[in-house]
This record gives sequence, C-alpha cells and structure tokens, in this order.
Amino acid sequence: EHALTQSGLSSVQLDQIITAAQILSAGGTVAFPTETVYGLGADVTNPTAIDKIYSIKQRPTHHPLIVHIGNISHMHYWTRDIPEAAWTLANHFWPGPLTLILPRSYHIPDCVTGGQDTVGIRLPAHPVALALLSALGPEKALAAPSANRFGRISPTLATHVHQELGKNVDMILEGGACEVGLESTIVSFHDNTIQILRPGSITLSELETALNKPVILAHNINQAIRTSGSLPAHYAPTTPLRLYRGTQIWQHALALAAQNLRVLVITWSNTAKPQLSDQLIEQFSMPVDPVAYGKQLYAKLRQFDQAAFDYMLIESPPDHPSWLAIADRLQRASYHLPNNH
Ligand code: TXA
Ligand code: MG
Repeated sequence: EHALTQSGLSSVQLDQIITAAQILSAGGTVAFPTETVYGLGADVTNPTAIDKIYSIKQRPTHHPLIVHIGNISHMHYWTRDIPEAAWTLANHFWPGPLTLILPRSYHIPDCVTGGQDTVGIRLPAHPVALALLSALGPEKALAAPSANRFGRISPTLATHVHQELGKNVDMILEGGACEVGLESTIVSFHDNTIQILRPGSITLSELETALNKPVILAHNINQAIRTSGSLPAHYAPTTPLRLYRGTQIWQHALALAAQNLRVLVITWSNTAKPQLSDQLIEQFSMPVDPVAYGKQLYAKLRQFDQAAFDYMLIESPPDHPSWLAIADRLQRASYHLPNNH
C-alpha cells in the first residue's frame, strides 16, 4: 500500500494496477511496461497461468521465462547458492535492465524454466512494473517474456502489444515508450565464470567495472554476430532484412531496384543516397548515438514492416562495444531461411 502511494502514478493508473494484480492472482495474464520492452506477465507460482503465456506467444515450452521481482530482498526466495558477484551486480544495477541466471529455489515450478535448474531473475526499473509487483504482494513474482509472438520484434509501446497479442491477453497496462528499447543484458555465473548470454544496454565494461573482475561474452554470441548463416531467426520483421557496410549498401539497393523491388535503406552514418539512384529506393537515417538508436529500433522496424517495402537494407552498426546489443539484434533479425531469397 505504502509503496503504491509513493510511486508517483495517478489514481487512475493505480486503479488499473490493482485490477491487473487481481487478474494475475486469479491466474490471468497481463502485459505490462518495463524499461526494456513490454512483458507478458503471469503469476510465477501458477502453472496454468504460465501455460497461457506459452500458448499466447506460441513459444516452445522448453524456452525459459524471466522472473520479475519487486524488491532485491526477494532474490533469495526464488533462487539459491547466490554468488557474491550476483549480489554485487544486483546491488549496483537493480532496478535496471539486467537479468541474472541463478540456481532456482523450490518455489519456482518446472514450467517457468523449461525444466532447467537455473532461473533468470530481474528487478525492472519502471514505475508501473514496480507498482504491479508491489500490488501482487510479497512471495509473488511475475514470469514475463517479451509480449510478442515467438521470434518476432519485442514491443516497446502498448499499441505494439495490442497489435501482436490483442484480445488473447486479459489486460494491457499502458506505460509509454520503453526507455531502453532493447531486452535486458543477461549474465550467468556458471563454473565461477561471469558470462554475458545476451548483450543489452548494460555493457561488458560496465559489468567489469562494478565487479572488478573479468566478464566474458558467451561464445554463441560471438558466433551470432560474426556468422549470420547459422543464426536462429529472432526479433524478425516479415520484410526481408539485410545488413551491409555503408560502402556496399547502395550497390545492393540499386541491384534490387533494377529488379523492380522497393527498397528501404536504413543508415546511421552520413552515407548518402547516390544522385542517380532509383525512385524505388528510400532512405531513413537512424541516430548516430547507440542509446538513441536502441530506443527507436524496434518501433521503426515495426513501422517499416507495415510499409510496402520488398527489402530493408540496414547499414551495419559500428564495430564498437557500445553497439553490441544492436548488432546482435540486427544480426538475428536479418536471418531468413535460404529459400526466402
Ligand atoms: O528485458 C527483458 O529481459 C524482457 C523484459 C520483459 O523483462 N524480457 C525478455 O524475456 O526479453 P524473453 O523471454 O523474451 O527472453 C528471455 C531470454 C530467453 O532468450 C532465454 O533463453 C533466456 O532469457 N533465459 C531465461 N531463463 C534462462 C535460464 N535459466 N538460462 C539461460 N537463459 C535463460
Ligand atoms: Mg523475447
């Protein structure tokens, strides 16, 4: 109650949050905003509710969910054998876009983790998410993947959730545009090695600085960024998307336009559309700053996916650690089955 009235939310928002908490307690699903992307939430302790998440998302059931908590002191209720480094990161970055992979406690049902003995846990930094967790009460947490159909672009606005999941969700809480716009950084502690499993806005060097210890990038991420052919499709628009260096992108655009295809070229540098280029080619300039770029990326991909382009060509982001999360998402978004051109 106290935490709710201190949250700075309007009484209308608080009423909606209390309704949402009742829906969740009764085994329903609620989409809610976080600082990264919108999540599709259900009561962690209710396997029937968890099943609804998998069926609404059309997500394979072995794919584990992230557990969202409202207070750092709840960490040891849901997890066990917490290494010192995990406490350090939680204290340093929570509430915030960081997910910790830890051994799960017996309070977490199998269906949340796809049977794995670890669980991903995070304390989100969004007033609506925090108020919702507070309204649910102690010994409750929200299992929540991103609120999109499996393999698609994560939602960064409530309207995206309406478009993706519509009436299949019991309630969608409004919370404006997500501040970060990319999913949380995921860190694991297996075998005393601190690894990034998914890059996000919290960078490797920020983690190392907080820990005063080395952090490594999981091998499959390195591969994911370097060898696009072996990637699982994820975060994908339906319009084919290709990544090219700024120097090559116009050549490829012209070649596609010559086949009478409509092409959108998305750049970040000042590489300019050649004078002679075709009317079938349009250019859109993204911000040069990775933070601003990351915040806009998914909303722009969604918007462009609804325009009638045959191809989206994206200028490869700079080869710099601050762009790693964006490079990772674009690489996955650009994966298409070989017969799809
Ligand atoms: O920013 C985020 O993390 C958002 C918001 C809603 O919190 N959530 C999100 O969830 O991106 P989802 O389900 O779309 O992605 C969760 C990722 C999956 O790729 C999964 O493989 C990984 O987290 N994950 C979850 N639990 C894990 C575990 N026990 N071990 C390894 N990876 C895990
Ligand atoms: Mg997701």
